[in-house]
Amino acid sequence: MAMISAALDRISPSPTLAMTTRTLELKAQGIDIIGLAAGEPDFDTPDFVKEAAIDAIRRGFTKYTNVDGTAELKAAIKAKFKRDNGLDYETSQISVNVGGKHTLFNALVATVEAGDEVIIPAPYWVSYPDIVQFCGGTPVIVSAPAEQGYKITPGQLDAAITPRTKWLILNSPSNPTGAAYSADELKALGEVLLRHPQVWVMADDMYEHITYGGFEFATIAQVVPALYDRTLTVNGCSKAYAMTGWRIGFAGGPLPIIKAMSKLQSQSTSNPCSIAQAAATAALNGPQDFLIERNAAFERRRDLVVSMLNQANGIHCPRPDGAFYVYPDVSGLIGKSTPAGKKIASDADLIDYFLDDYRVAAVNGAAFGLEPAFRISYATSEAVLSEACERIQTACAALR
Ligand SMILES: Cc1ncc(COP(=O)(O)O)c(C=O)c1O
Repeated sequence: MAMISAALDRISPSPTLAMTTRTLELKAQGIDIIGLAAGEPDFDTPDFVKEAAIDAIRRGFTKYTNVDGTAELKAAIKAKFKRDNGLDYETSQISVNVGGKHTLFNALVATVEAGDEVIIPAPYWVSYPDIVQFCGGTPVIVSAPAEQGYKITPGQLDAAITPRTKWLILNSPSNPTGAAYSADELKALGEVLLRHPQVWVMADDMYEHITYGGFEFATIAQVVPALYDRTLTVNGCSKAYAMTGWRIGFAGGPLPIIKAMSKLQSQSTSNPCSIAQAAATAALNGPQDFLIERNAAFERRRDLVVSMLNQANGIHCPRPDGAFYVYPDVSGLIGKSTPAGKKIASDADLIDYFLDDYRVAAVNGAAFGLEPAFRISYATSEAVLSEACERIQTACAALR
């Protein structure tokens, strides 16, 4: 009898976390690595958020809470959905979980069974297919290459839907590409979904607050109200509020799903950390103006990285509207050889070459389901990004 379950055998460790671990190990050996693999803001959690957590500890708010979130945090999330998205959710329609990944995990485990299909546009965030497979479901990958702005078309969506389709996962702005769907693009996808009442939508809006150049964020339940009853709107504190370590994610959606997620959570984590919930309440209720300043810094970094990467031989880097990633296409480098004579047969080979010979860590496209490409997280200083891009330019120029 096998010790490890078949469900676990169907998944792999997160490739982005693996690259981050590899970078940290090399740094610990004193090697000068520029790590551009980790998907987290370099900014600190705002002071007013930290203070709220310290206050929670001091007043003894350190015990179990309501399974899927405190009343205060649910009220703050309800207000956030109304304020930012024009969405009305009752507090009973809100679920708070241990990070956005846990929100998505709960929702998929609560709904997906063997034989169910989940449509995942590629490039995708690494965890979607694995979680679907863990549940016994089948990921249906729809490729959205750079030529279509890394976004799926209504025609592609229509063609991917079958009677077994349970969910479409829509992530905008996207990790790993930064591509973001406009309200009109969401409406066009929504029209397709309205013809297929069995399909639900999981809107992963984790990067909602990180957009540039006047791009207007929209979420599908807002722009296609007829889908409200079959949309789970997922968000969290990790990215906007630089709170990746606090582990607070949340969702608004139809009551039966929210209740099912709560039932699952009651038998796993019991509740999210009480102190982190107090911090998240402060983050959502507090001043939001620091986001503008941080976005301006992210936008400068995006422009720097896009411009420098496009000057590297063989790289084509689209300019994204949001998040803090770029996803350059490297078709122009495949088949070349390094000065040491090693063939670059795939984007994995290219990433190894960048790391081994030029000490820059990024994540290759195979991890995100669309190759040849790689992902850079530009959530670091302009000086570091500039040095990293120079190294990449030199690395590309040396390929023959
Ligand atoms: C698209 C997307 N969804 C969800 C998450 C999960 O966020 P959290 O760190 O809150 O679990 C991430 C984090 O990288 C992400 O990029």
